[in-house]
Amino acid sequence: MNSSRYFRLPNLFSSNSTNMFFQRLFAMANYSFSSSSPSSKTSIQAVYDICKNNLTPSTSPPPQLIHELSSILDTIGPSDVGLRDEHQEDDRGHGFSTPNTLNRLDRWAQPITYIDLNESQSFTMCMFCFPTSSVIPLHDHPGMTVLSKVLYGSLHVKGYDWVEPPLIKDSKEIARAPVRLAKLAVDKVLSAPCSTSVLYPKTGGNLHCFTAITSCAVLDILTPPYEEYSGRKCTYYRDYPYSSFGSGDELIDGKEDEYAWLEEIDAPDDLYMRQGIYAGPPIRM
Ligand SMILES: [Fe+2]
Repeated sequence: MNSSRYFRLPNLFSSNSTNMFFQRLFAMANYSFSSSSPSSKTSIQAVYDICKNNLTPSTSPPPQLIHELSSILDTIGPSDVGLRDEHQEDDRGHGFSTPNTLNRLDRWAQPITYIDLNESQSFTMCMFCFPTSSVIPLHDHPGMTVLSKVLYGSLHVKGYDWVEPPLIKDSKEIARAPVRLAKLAVDKVLSAPCSTSVLYPKTGGNLHCFTAITSCAVLDILTPPYEEYSGRKCTYYRDYPYSSFGSGDELIDGKEDEYAWLEEIDAPDDLYMRQGIYAGPPIRM
């Protein structure tokens, strides 16, 4: 995923604390390269190789491939990708040790860190490091399959899938866009160590929102990647309770609280995210 397609990144070199952030990340890059020898392929290299050799820009991965990828992702922890399990240290989720370097205000102001591992026409491999209580608002992955592995910490995931055929209600209010009915697919807390989660183009919570319960990190594989000219644009939504616009007629199965109306919104201005640098074992591409 090219993060600029997904999120607006602020000026990366705008503050002293940001410079300190990069100094620490570069310091972490003193990773032992011995594990990159062909005889001892790292887990992240194995994941990359499977993705590169099997994923395509135009097709969804078959179940067996999803299973194979998930099995390896299940074994991956923070140390396999150059991060440290920091959620007990409350460093605001950057995946490196900072106990004495940021004052209290700086720590609360820390953004979500996006780390790009690979971007190709077939897939994106990336990581997000979340400070406690940070949020990636409700957004979609049109036509995409996404595998997510929580590396450390706890993350609340709320995910919807569209009700098909589409049920759309036009708003009588000039200022508001139409709303479309979606059904709740996922509403749970993922705490490491846990197995890999998968969402699909039509199922599994393709529209989702992340809230960091503790500082945490997630390794994502998106296939195919976001690509606006191919119709895979990231769109953000606001969700309304079913009762806001529903009369009961639209319910196919389940209860009212399993449904929501989603309204398309602009990318949120308060999504505070910046780019980090991968400091794990080298990945041969
Ligand atoms: Fe997402």
